[in-house]
Amino acid sequence: MAVKNIDTILILGATSGLGEAFTHYFHSQGKKVLAAGCNVDKLASLKSELKGLETFRIDVEDIANLDTNLKNVIKEFPGLDSVFVFPSIMNFFSFKDPGSSTEKDISSEVTTNLTAPILIARTVVPLLLPLNRPATLITVSSGLRYIPVPIYPVYVTTKAGIRSSLEKCLIYYEGEKSPEKGE
Ligand SMILES: NC(=O)c1ccc[n+]([C@@H]2O[C@H](COP(=O)([O-])OP(=O)(O)OC[C@H]3O[C@@H](n4cnc5c(N)ncnc54)[C@H](OP(=O)(O)O)[C@@H]3O)[C@@H](O)[C@H]2O)c1
Repeated sequence: MAVKNIDTILILGATSGLGEAFTHYFHSQGKKVLAAGCNVDKLASLKSELKGLETFRIDVEDIANLDTNLKNVIKEFPGLDSVFVFPSIMNFFSFKDPGSSTEKDISSEVTTNLTAPILIARTVVPLLLPLNRPATLITVSSGLRYIPVPIYPVYVTTKAGIRSSLEKCLIYYEGEKSPEKGE
């Protein structure tokens, strides 16, 4: 990833953690930053803190509306050249105690960590590839994918899926020009 190639960036999961840190970083570099997340209070606070920041409420678990929500952003900012995907859930539970998790917990974790990045790539890749300049799509795995940590059984599985399949698919497009892959 070359920062000089990034002019307008959409950061999904911008309201805390790495997403928030990258939002501050790219804004400090003078880039046009489109910050998206679920926490509307945090989005409002980022917008008031960072002049020129654009904010969008996008819940990536809302997969029925994800394609439309992304396309609405891209329609408003056709210069978008980069998308970073940070939303993540890391539930702590054990299969030894089924009561430590619910079906909803597991479904939400898989949807947020794996299904949503796949759907985001499906929407974004065809829009980035025709750009007449470098483009970047970053999804995030984790070193924990190598370790069968029994207290994070869904997290490590989704992160292995991102790394072993989605990111390898994205690498395929590098030969055509972009998007770049990353971890
Ligand atoms: N931090 C590390 O050391 C590390 C190491 C390896 C990999 N990673 C990966 O890096 C990425 C970011 O990690 P992090 O440490 O910054 O995680 P984090 O602090 O837990 O932040 C996760 C972000 O995802 C957002 N999010 C959760 N569900 C969402 C949804 N349905 N729609 C939109 N946003 C949603 C959260 O929003 P809220 O603000 O509402 O909570 C939060 O902004 C993750 O993919 C993680 O697996 C991190």
